Amino acid sequence: MRKIYVLDTTLRDGEQSPGVSLTSQEKVEIALQLQRLGIDRIEAGFPITSRGEVASVQEVAKVITNATVVAFSRSREQDIDAAREALRDAVDPCLHLFLATSPIHREYKLRMDKSKVLDTLEAAIRYGRKYFDKVEFSAEDASRTEIEFLCEVTDRAIKAGATVVNLPDTVGFATPVQFGRIFKTVKERVMGIERIQLSTHCHDDLGMATANTLAAIEGGVDQIEGTINGIGERAGNTAIEEVALALETRGDSYGGAKTSLVLSEIYRTSRLVSKLTGMTVPGNKAIVGANAFAHESGIHQDGMLKNRATYEIISPETIGISASKLVLGKHSGRHAFKERLIDLGYSLDEERLNMAFAKFKDLADRKKEVLTEDIRAIMDENVTEGPV
Ligand code: KIV
Ligand code: ZN
Repeated sequence: MRKIYVLDTTLRDGEQSPGVSLTSQEKVEIALQLQRLGIDRIEAGFPITSRGEVASVQEVAKVITNATVVAFSRSREQDIDAAREALRDAVDPCLHLFLATSPIHREYKLRMDKSKVLDTLEAAIRYGRKYFDKVEFSAEDASRTEIEFLCEVTDRAIKAGATVVNLPDTVGFATPVQFGRIFKTVKERVMGIERIQLSTHCHDDLGMATANTLAAIEGGVDQIEGTINGIGERAGNTAIEEVALALETRGDSYGGAKTSLVLSEIYRTSRLVSKLTGMTVPGNKAIVGANAFAHESGIHQDGMLKNRATYEIISPETIGISASKLVLGKHSGRHAFKERLIDLGYSLDEERLNMAFAKFKDLADRKKEVLTEDIRAIMDENVTEGPV
């Protein structure tokens, strides 16, 4: 098996979702759940942003014993010092430095030429390595950076002592084929690349974060970064649960690549993150949405009752949900209706079943979902039980 390391940035990039702000206690609660989920590296925050953020990262660092705790930092000594303070109690700390490398960021944001970018990242990594054994360097906006320069950046980061080099699709601009090629090229051209781990970090502006992350895995990355439920800046980050389940279900297409996540903790983690961030998960969200394991149409329900694999490629138990849901609505058929009656303890002969089914269909035309209480009401008001 090829292990893919997972860096979770729910507490840093995820917290950068507009309107989200987590207290120290909430960060600790989420971090402990991420540890149960088997996340390898937990990015706890961006310490230079405030005293409160330093304190939150410190609290997380104190309780996490089974994962690396990561602090985010610009390529500046002042930021690195704040990260040192925040991570002083971590069992396994990691400094995560970043600097933008693309032409547009160099010209308008940083006002640095290429050689200044190289010198700045080198100085920051060398300074960071004085205090940390693990230093990740991220070339912000890597997907819009000239490939020759990206190779130079990677080379310089390795020579300066980075242990992980991350090439992010910061603005969600990449397409899967192009993105996968970037990693293949960097791996072919940069000497000493085997000494470090290569990582990716994608955003979902064009809805391609998961596809791009999987392309990066095909391109040879060792680590993927993302958040629970895909929360994060703008349209969000790669949803970790989607990549983990894609590898679990279609690992054959990715050379047996797998994360070591405890998949049965996924649903619980998703609910906790949604509750504490206040960001609701859309019903149709892959893996963790309320409808991900719900079936409404009669044809699908009939198939599910005969063999779940007809319409489910993942079992809900895999991610910690107890059962699939057959939603009774206007598209549902007799088979699912009868099964629900049996579950509720009713036993009807054909004539009474037909009568109850007709009442159910009348109601389903007026109501989106027919609930258990509705079925009980139909039975109480209209149908008496009798021998089957
Ligand atoms: O999106 C990004 O590029 C990031 C960092 C890894 C720099 O959040
Ligand atoms: Zn990001």
